[in-house]
Amino acid sequence: MGYVIAMAGKGGTGKTTVAALIVRILKDNKLGSILAIDADPNSNLADALGIKVKASIGEILDEICVHPEKVPAGMPKERFIEYEVQTAVSEGVGFDCLTMGRPEGPGCYCYVNNVLRDVLGKLIKDYDFVIIDNEAGLEHLSRRTTRSADALVVVSDASKVGLKAAERIIALAKELKIQTKKNLLIINRFNNNLDKEKLEGVEAEYLGNLAQDAGIEKISLNGGSLMELSRDALVLTALNKIGEKIWQRN
Ligand SMILES: Nc1ncnc2c1ncn2[C@@H]1O[C@H](COP(=O)(O)OP(=O)(O)OP(=O)(O)O)[C@@H](O)[C@H]1O
Ligand SMILES: [Mg+2]
Repeated sequence: MGYVIAMAGKGGTGKTTVAALIVRILKDNKLGSILAIDADPNSNLADALGIKVKASIGEILDEICVHPEKVPAGMPKERFIEYEVQTAVSEGVGFDCLTMGRPEGPGCYCYVNNVLRDVLGKLIKDYDFVIIDNEAGLEHLSRRTTRSADALVVVSDASKVGLKAAERIIALAKELKIQTKKNLLIINRFNNNLDKEKLEGVEAEYLGNLAQDAGIEKISLNGGSLMELSRDALVLTALNKIGEKIWQRN
């Protein structure tokens, strides 16, 4: 229950794409119930999954903080937040999706965020798998969603600079005391053999590469969802093969 897969990596490496492909594989292989959380304020995981967002958590918190009178009389604020979060969950075919939206502002947010963390903690337990797509930094991961992940999946390009960034991100996760049971590395958009020496210093298990994929390019150009990607796409076959450690519960 509540097996958490958190995505990390520097900007534009393919975190959202790989997150959506993981959702796709878990769903296609019927591995269990799935909650996809878009924790990037410039959210686009829902688009990648073909989901229309009802309301983001940010919008709900704004509403509660700016208009506390909207909390029904006699209802504890905690219950109201719980209810609102539940109604913000969008249902896709074979998975649910929650969008965090923009980060908190000043005012009552500290208290509300604490409540939110409890509410999300409970919600996470209701699903077999929770995939959290993050922005390039990891700071918010400790604040709003969860302080721990079963698998931290770092997506990188194959460049030296890219891998240095991956190394820093994993070190940052440690510094922020985000507890991860396993750190895994995927090199995205790379078709060649990787010189393993380049991985020195990256404290993660290297799973393998995903190639540049023409089907993803086409979907990205036309603004479609990765749920439309052909079942036979090589990138799905590759992720199915290298990714088992991501969703394996040990
Ligand atoms: N394997 C791939 N083949 C082809 N295109 C890809 C592949 N992986 C990612 N892309 C494309 O690269 C771009 C960036 O990918 P994506 O949005 O997933 O990165 P990100 O790490 O989530 O970015 P950000 O840091 O902005 O959130 C997108 O246009 C996406 O379609
Ligand atoms: Mg992204």
